[in-house]
Amino acid sequence: MKITKICCIGAGYVGGPTMAVIAKKNPHIKVTIVDINAERIAAWNDKDLSKLPIYEPGLAEIVEETRGRNLFFSTEIDKTIKESEMIFISVNTPTKTYGKGKGMAADLKYVELCARNIAEVATTDKIVVEKSTLPVRTAQAIKSILHNTGSDVKFDILSNPEFLAEGTAVQDLLNPDRVLIGGESEEAIESLANVYGSWVSQDRILRTNVWSSELSKLTANAFLAQRISSINAISELCEHTEANVNEVAKAIGMDSRIGPKFLNASIGFGGSCFQKDILNLVYIARSYNLQAVADYWEQVIILNDHQKRRFSDHLISTLYNTVSGKKIAMLGWAFKKDTNDTRESAAIYVADHLLNEQANIAVYDPKVNDKKVQADLNYLNTRTEEENKDLVQSYNDPYEVTKDAHAVAIMTEWDEFKTYDWKKIYNHMKKPAFIFDGRNILDKTEMEKIGFEYSSIGK
Ligand code: NAD
Ligand code: UGA
Repeated sequence: MKITKICCIGAGYVGGPTMAVIAKKNPHIKVTIVDINAERIAAWNDKDLSKLPIYEPGLAEIVEETRGRNLFFSTEIDKTIKESEMIFISVNTPTKTYGKGKGMAADLKYVELCARNIAEVATTDKIVVEKSTLPVRTAQAIKSILHNTGSDVKFDILSNPEFLAEGTAVQDLLNPDRVLIGGESEEAIESLANVYGSWVSQDRILRTNVWSSELSKLTANAFLAQRISSINAISELCEHTEANVNEVAKAIGMDSRIGPKFLNASIGFGGSCFQKDILNLVYIARSYNLQAVADYWEQVIILNDHQKRRFSDHLISTLYNTVSGKKIAMLGWAFKKDTNDTRESAAIYVADHLLNEQANIAVYDPKVNDKKVQADLNYLNTRTEEENKDLVQSYNDPYEVTKDAHAVAIMTEWDEFKTYDWKKIYNHMKKPAFIFDGRNILDKTEMEKIGFEYSSIGK
């Protein structure tokens, strides 16, 4: 099928950047991103590019180049579905918070709603592309909905999971390690391969069956997260043996079979996907009664929770076993640098734990505002909104946030944190002045020379 119009349902962290790059590289294709969230669509259409709903290095420039040319953001879902030959489903698939599979399985209600919407309004043949991360065999459900409309519209369903990481989304999309397309219809697969073929060489475009494609996405995230839990497990051992986790990571990473990437010990991984996708994998394994497989992957999450907990426990015990009434300055709230996304950020859980001990939390993040910080804490339901407001303050300035603080906790590895005048920060903190470097980004010797009591992960 010749593709001239693409619709993407879901204007989020995946839909936005992915479609912007597709539009940039395919000026002959009209790409329209639709969403039920009118506020989000309005932000995508804002003339002021600093107001785009998603911060990603390089994204605003691409939106500026393509928006109004062949990239459009709209709330007119039905109309856009109707006119497009190819429809991407890129909606959220969070962990279920109710019913069967609560806390484990992926909630597929948004995906199903999209499939029903497409089935209802389509009058011409469509290629439907699963871009959301879905449990293996979801395409079966989508197929069943689309093939039972009673009309003679033909639907081909493809799985095309996204591997971009936030903070580097544009670069990941422009130079992907691979593009994965799973499907039955060769013609449909080639139509999508041609869209990517505008900038990705064909040998990097993998064609598989639908189920391998769906499962590969969950597996890739599970393997990546497993590496972090593995190095974090070793970081705890390092702290008891005087080994240094950075040195260990370097030594093992030089083995070409292991490789150097994704070996940074940290306060634990965050982000909207690793935990959700592993829980989903565990749920699927359990549903096939594969208990050993489920237990194996569940341990990645258990270790990650342990890592977040032990960071805050260490902070409390170092501050003489009490943080009650003490100002703890948190540098960073986003789940990693170069994004404004805070979903499942380790900072939220560390703050929550410290708040249970009656700490006063002061937050500075270059891309996250107070509204978001409060919403993240309120979502946990641990205390009232008023209590969170009382105990947690956000600042716009790294020097203000650290003033009179008993301790600084580095939660996100923003580059700017390394460039601060740490002597100035030391001078206006309470003494002894503590730094808990949850990202191992500062130099221990330098910090100790200034006078800080410095501790980091795995050293
Ligand atoms: P997101 O929450 O940022 O965006 C999803 C959007 O879909 C929201 O704006 C929501 O309003 C919209 N939506 C939901 N139901 C809708 C409907 N019926 N009609 C129209 N719009 C609807 O989510 P995201 O981070 O972009 O993730 C989307 C999917 O991609 C998830 O399955 C996720 O696992 C996967 N994924 C995410 C990343 C990432 O880095 N965030 C990377 C790879 C894959
Ligand atoms: C991750 C994957 O890397 C993407 O390939 C995938 O597409 C995406 O999930 C998804 O499916 O959503 P993302 O979560 O955006 O991407 O970012 P990562 O760079 O993977 O970082 C995840 C978390 O792990 C962050 O909190 C990060 O700080 C942490 N991390 C990462 C470490 O603690 N150590 C590391 O060595 C690497």
